[in-house]
Amino acid sequence: MLITPALFAKKVLTFYQKHGRKDLPWQQDSTPYRVWVSEVMLQQTQVKTVIPYYLKFMQSFPTVKALANADIDQVLHHWQGLGYYTRARNLHKCAQIVMQQFNGKFPDNLEEMESLPGIGRSTAGAILSLALNKPTPILDGNVKRVLARVFMVDGWYGQTAVSKELWQLTEKYTPQKNTAHFNQAMMDLGASFCSRSKPQCEQCPLSTHCLAFIHGKTSEYPHKKPKKTIPTKQATLQLHINQNQQLLLEKKPPSGIWGGLWSLPEQLEDSSNRRKNKTTLIDEFKHTFTHFHLEIKVVSPTQIKSTTIAENSAQQWHNIEQLKQLAFPTPIRKFLFKYFQIDN
Ligand code: ADE
Repeated sequence: MLITPALFAKKVLTFYQKHGRKDLPWQQDSTPYRVWVSEVMLQQTQVKTVIPYYLKFMQSFPTVKALANADIDQVLHHWQGLGYYTRARNLHKCAQIVMQQFNGKFPDNLEEMESLPGIGRSTAGAILSLALNKPTPILDGNVKRVLARVFMVDGWYGQTAVSKELWQLTEKYTPQKNTAHFNQAMMDLGASFCSRSKPQCEQCPLSTHCLAFIHGKTSEYPHKKPKKTIPTKQATLQLHINQNQQLLLEKKPPSGIWGGLWSLPEQLEDSSNRRKNKTTLIDEFKHTFTHFHLEIKVVSPTQIKSTTIAENSAQQWHNIEQLKQLAFPTPIRKFLFKYFQIDN
């Protein structure tokens, strides 16, 4: 039988009392402003990385007004090292909107909260619940994992239908009371006992009701993003070395995957060519791009190429010692450095 919302909440709240985090900086004096800044920082960054950034940020911008009046460069400077800088730009923009359109006070309802830049449904729910104890559900990565396991939700949550199902579950199971503690506990449970790779189900308050645990399938949930099947292409590249110990390279045209980088000249696969030019296979390797695999053969042509090259050609002879100074695609660089025994 499925766990009831009341029992679910009771178990999660008991977990909060015993194991929940209670001393994070944004849990002290948890105003909407302070919770909002923490939630935006935590969107793509782990708690222990966020803490020092958060403390400095709050020192420099203690209020939404201070942030709104700050120079964007100053805000970005505080973000240095956190990455995903759009978050900092949105934070600054959002502070100005709160000052201009909301009289300096954060909205206390989901609809207005979600209309602000950088605040999605889950972040809006987190701010309203954690700062104001409003009964708004959340669905961040940790909560998704807990729910996907307890209810064995099939499918990857990048799919609309799966995301919809998870939102329905979090709405159904989030209690109207003690929502702040409940939401914090769900995030903490997902970050601790219900971790992705080594869940500690013996310690988890929900395990006796967790469908994935009961079926011995915790490692299968949540379902991963399906792997795309991508085509495999082949390329044959030539390793020409002249009598001066120079290597023939070709600069790829500006557009395309290897745009502007140096590579080995490609041998076009045409059957008459293949019969005429006997080649020796030197190496074979595979490289995967986002949209295809590339199987690369490197061959040494038995026919020696003349050292003169047409002036307008993209091809040039290069001394082996100069290779370090040139920009190559990673698989080509790996091959050449291995072949010529060049240190990285
Ligand atoms: N991740 C996002 N919000 C969080 C919070 N309030 N506590 C811990 N981890 C979080």
